[in-house]
Formats: sequence, C-alpha cells, structure tokens
Amino acid sequence: MEKPQIMSDSSGLYVVVLAGGISHERDVSLRSGRRVADALVDAGHRVVLRDPDAALLPFLADEQPDVVFPALHGSSGEDGSLLDLLHALGVPTVGSTGAAARRAWSKPVATSLVAGAGVSVPGSIVLSHEAFRELGAASVLRVVRNALEGDLVVKPGSGGSAQGVTIVDDPNDLPRAMVEAFTYDDIAIVERRIMGTELAVAVVDTGDGPRALTPVEIEPAHGVYSFQARYNAGETTFYAPSRLNDDITSAAADAAVLAHRTLGLRDLSRIDFIVDEAGTPWFLEANVIPGLTETSLVPLAIEASGTEASAVYGALVRAAADRGTQVD
Ligand SMILES: Nc1ncnc2c1ncn2[C@@H]1O[C@H](COP(=O)(O)OP(=O)(O)O)[C@@H](O)[C@H]1O
Ligand SMILES: [Mg+2]
Repeated sequence: MEKPQIMSDSSGLYVVVLAGGISHERDVSLRSGRRVADALVDAGHRVVLRDPDAALLPFLADEQPDVVFPALHGSSGEDGSLLDLLHALGVPTVGSTGAAARRAWSKPVATSLVAGAGVSVPGSIVLSHEAFRELGAASVLRVVRNALEGDLVVKPGSGGSAQGVTIVDDPNDLPRAMVEAFTYDDIAIVERRIMGTELAVAVVDTGDGPRALTPVEIEPAHGVYSFQARYNAGETTFYAPSRLNDDITSAAADAAVLAHRTLGLRDLSRIDFIVDEAGTPWFLEANVIPGLTETSLVPLAIEASGTEASAVYGALVRAAADRGTQVD
C-alpha cells in the first residue's frame, strides 16, 4: 500500500492520500482514497496511499510529503483530530482546518451557526444520552412529540453515511430510534422531517473563493437515502443537473456557499439540503471530507460541471502546497 504509484511528471508533487481508518465509514473511505489517488496520478503527482495507523505520524514526520490529502470519513478525519496533528507536524493538507471540521462535524453546532446566517434549518431538539436517562425517556419523548409536529428524523449528533439515522413516521418507533442514534454518538438529534427533494451541493475553492458546482438531485428507489441506498448500484438515481428549476438550484447553490463560508470551511465541502415544495432549501449538514467513491455525489457534481476529478483534486493539491501550513 505504501509503494509509490507512477511518477509521470517531474513537476508533480509528493502527495500522501489518507484512507481507511477505524471509523464506521472505513470501507467508504478506502474507496474514496483509491479514486483520489488515481485522479492525482492522472494529474501527474507521485502518490502514496496510507491507512492512518500507529505508524502514520512517524512516517509523515520522516517523509515530509509536499501535501496530505485526507480522504477519511467519519471520526478521526472529520472530527478534526488528525487535521490538528497534521498541522502540528507542519504538513500542508487539503481541506478544512481541525477547528472548522469540528464546527461541521457536530450537527447541532453546524445547524445553529448556519441558521444564524439566515439559511433555513429544520426545527430540532438535541438530547445528550445522559439527559435522556436522567429525565426519563418517556417524559422527554412526550415533550419532543408535542414540540415537533409531523414525521421526525432521529440521528446521531455526528457521523455520516446515514448510519444511526431513522425516519420516524409512527411515534411508537421513537424510543427505538433514540437507542439506535445513541449507539453512534452520545448526542441524538430529533428533527422535523422535511418532505421534498434531496439535493447535494459540492463547494470547491481552488484559490479564487468558494463556488458551488452543479447541484446533484438524489432520488432513492425506496424514498430514503439510507446506507444501502448510498453504496449499492441501482438503489438511487442521481440527476446532475437536477430536475428543479434554475431559481431553486441557484438558491441552493448560494445557500451552500453561505454555509461553507459561515462554518469557515476550506477547499472542498459538500452541503446537503432537502428542497421543500415551496422551493426552500433546508440545510441538513455540511461534510468536510465528502465521499469521493465511484458512486459518490462530489465526483458526479464535478463531471456535471464540465470538469474532471484529476483537474479539481490536482488544483486543490497545488493550492494546499502553495498555502503551506498557514491557517486561514
Ligand atoms: N430533517 C430531515 N428531513 C428529511 N430527511 C432527512 C432529514 N435529516 C436527515 N434526513 C435523511 O437522512 C439522511 C442522512 O442524514 P444526514 O443528516 O445527512 O446524515 P449523514 O451525515 O449520515 O449523511 C439524509 O440524506 C436524508 O435522506
Ligand atoms: Mg448527509
């Protein structure tokens, strides 16, 4: 795995792509990492693909690669820990800083900051496992049900790939949904379910400010964009461009750039929305290391925007090398 791939261009940079890890999204990350490594080799860089293990930090300290490209979804990558360590090692890194990643990683923090910037977010109640136990599940859930009308979505306070997420259309299912969310995180969010069209907007900044790529519409075969719907061929239909009208897609693109800026994100992010019948995009979450596999949304958005993964990732790597380790 450590063996360098082709060195096709002497001006190419030495890039370490990080993929794998021990998070719930390990397999997705490995697929993302392989795609990124291939695209960077195509762009003329020398690439080493590494799993983050106990040998990683000494390896990076010895090797001092030009740039690290983390393709680690879930904890350690997206919770900012490793990003802080990379910064401490003085290795230029593609993507957000640790501090910004933490703002996005916590869905309750991200939604409140993005709401403060004027983007619509679904009404929610955030519950720690401790408070839930202390105050008693039955009485907590009675208050929750009265406060949030209609169908609900229960999800862990952080995480990805829809793991631990339950759509609750029968109030009797609420306790089980809470238990499921708490298996992934000490915080659970109970959120109003927004009915409408799911839209993912990739935001890219290769040095001239963040811009939205073509928004991608997601139509899961069984109505919910679950883990199965994400990683099995044929389970979901993607439309890039989406079937929504131009006014709506440009409102979503603007909201995505606003969310990216508000959270202080850098280089690349994917902002997820549900667009309701009135055409309002409701912010669900921001991903600082979005999926980059062959069936992921960002590669589709790149293609629909008339460019190529090797060009975009290559430009991000160049921008990271030029930036060095400064934090902006
Ligand atoms: N408030 C909501 N209304 C409707 N659907 C939602 C809502 N929140 C989440 N979902 C559904 O659950 C999926 C996963 O939720 P999300 O918050 O994006 O978590 P993840 O980080 O796991 O992708 C979304 O892609 C969407 O299909
Ligand atoms: Mg999501």
